[in-house]
Amino acid sequence: MSKKRIGVLTGGGDCPGLNPAIRGVVMRALDYGDEVIGLKYGWAGLIKADAVPLKLEDVEDILEIGGTILGSSRTNPFKKEEDVQKCIESFKKLNLDALIAIGGEDTLGVASKFSKLGLPMIGIPKTIDKDLEETDYTLGFDTAVEVVVDAIKRLRDTAKSHARVIVVEIMGRHAGWLALYGGLAGGADYILIPEVEPNLEELYNHIRKLYDRGHTYAVVAIAEGVQLPGFTYQKGQEGMVDAFGHIRLGGVGNVLAEEIQKNIGIETRAVILSHLQRGGSPSIRDRILGLLLGKTAVDLVHEGKSGYFIAVKGSELVPVDITLIEGKTKNVDPSFYESVKTFFNK
Ligand code: F6P
Repeated sequence: MSKKRIGVLTGGGDCPGLNPAIRGVVMRALDYGDEVIGLKYGWAGLIKADAVPLKLEDVEDILEIGGTILGSSRTNPFKKEEDVQKCIESFKKLNLDALIAIGGEDTLGVASKFSKLGLPMIGIPKTIDKDLEETDYTLGFDTAVEVVVDAIKRLRDTAKSHARVIVVEIMGRHAGWLALYGGLAGGADYILIPEVEPNLEELYNHIRKLYDRGHTYAVVAIAEGVQLPGFTYQKGQEGMVDAFGHIRLGGVGNVLAEEIQKNIGIETRAVILSHLQRGGSPSIRDRILGLLLGKTAVDLVHEGKSGYFIAVKGSELVPVDITLIEGKTKNVDPSFYESVKTFFNK
């Protein structure tokens, strides 16, 4: 059994569960006598060969800590040909046998491109958005849903006291998973997601109906990517688009709150949960899964596999061709949304 030198990085928006995954990588690598090298701040670390050795003592106490001990960034090396070359050189300079990239579609898309260029890559899926194709789950989602549920519970208390409507804006980019699961589990009174065109008349009528039957408050969950008539994100504005071309979202909740107040005359407030959803101690699910994904990634390196990411399929962790996720987003099926409306449109 040959020993390996394995790199690991975390890229894109952070989430709870990254540290357990790093711990899983390092602890499994020790079983093989491997060395693990942590690259700092995602792909930026590979461009600059900015790396630190990761030993047992570095990961022993990180299981319950949110964020990532390696740092993260939205650096896209494929934006500049010279950065691609620098990454290839760093890979050689650091003497890596394989690199484990922990990320969402952007980070794993880069890993996919490097694997096509001959660098051995294994991917671990993470994102609070849960919008990655080919996998049922992405690390971080469970913890983020818990944050949303807790927020809705708190907002309901104050909404009730003041007989107000409170709009809560939830992350997820152009996918409604986090808003829908958080809204359903938190008992939101109405939920809007990007996959389904907003029916504001239905929402207003629903709130009126609630108040008429003595339920004199409402918590309305809206995903940040919902397009409301008359509200557009400021495309093209300096600093509003990241290195992967994603527009920065946020603010639609404020617009919806104004519209609700204007149209039905009930005092309405908005809360944008924003990055609160990305912090905090990972849930039990995200801890266990992080460990297992990290372990499986190292096992795949030792099986000589490259160009795979580890998909969660039911209770199985399955290696899947990483090229299959490139440029794709997994969205909520509108028919599923319609079917669960029974829980929030009464
Ligand atoms: O992809 C995860 C995510 O948290 C999205 O839900 C959100 O739109 C985006 O990242 C925010 O990114 P940033 O932290 O770069 O502002």
